Amino acid sequence: MKQSVIARGPRRSYIPAAGYHWLLPLFDLVTKLTGADQARSALLDQAELRPGQRALDVGCGTGTLAILLKKQYPEIEVVGLDPDPKALVLARRKARRAGVSTRFDQGFSDELGYPEDSFDHVFSSFMFHHLKSDQKEDTFREIRRVLKPGGYLHFLDFRGPDTGDTRLVTRWWHSHSILKDNAESRILARMAKAGLADARTLRRRTVVFGLVHIAYYQACALKSPFSKDPPNLVRFPVQSGDEVIQFKPNYRRS
Ligand SMILES: C[S@@+](CC[C@H](N)C(=O)[O-])C[C@H]1O[C@@H](n2cnc3c(N)ncnc32)[C@H](O)[C@@H]1O
Repeated sequence: MKQSVIARGPRRSYIPAAGYHWLLPLFDLVTKLTGADQARSALLDQAELRPGQRALDVGCGTGTLAILLKKQYPEIEVVGLDPDPKALVLARRKARRAGVSTRFDQGFSDELGYPEDSFDHVFSSFMFHHLKSDQKEDTFREIRRVLKPGGYLHFLDFRGPDTGDTRLVTRWWHSHSILKDNAESRILARMAKAGLADARTLRRRTVVFGLVHIAYYQACALKSPFSKDPPNLVRFPVQSGDEVIQFKPNYRRS
């Protein structure tokens, strides 16, 4: 299994998985107890994955989603990317224990060190709120660049202050500066600005015992301005408590 460091330029800072480096060993346990494992696994349902395809998990952390993806779809080549070397050590260890060959690279979402048109799918879970405003736009641009024409971005993240939830604890959570910038409308506008087509929210739900709102997004990389390719919408299973925004039958490009 080839590992590589693809971060470029000088050392950069980032917000680690649990906010503080010393909390990393507890990250997997906390996410399991708060329902994040289920939420991540539902992200895979919105993708139509085919043997031989390549998938990238941006901000993969300790590798849970990338490993799950490889376990469910062994014929897909999966690469996880994260700037945190300690999280990558855990991810590689977990992959070894799970008996899957997933590659984990060190790097940042806004300077992906992969050639253009490298991946059929880009996934990302609970990473976007770790980025600064300008990094968000650059990240979408980079994702569009590395996606093959017709490839898909599937990502989920905490929703910003536009949930309509007036409970005190939710209002407090949304007042956090990194979530203020995570309103759905802003995320969709940023994807569109980066040239991703058909950016949409597919689903909304809650985690952490109903207190924290999350949203699932999808967008497509249509690289030719003349392309009339329709989006390849995927039928995914609905779970109780889900608010499904887009739910259309599959249709494929001819
Ligand atoms: C909350 S964790 C989520 C990890 C994983 N996706 C999951 O679902 O468990 C956020 C991750 O984003 C990573 N991260 C922070 N800044 C980043 C950046 N600029 N580019 C890529 N990943 C970044 C962190 O190191 C961390 O592992």
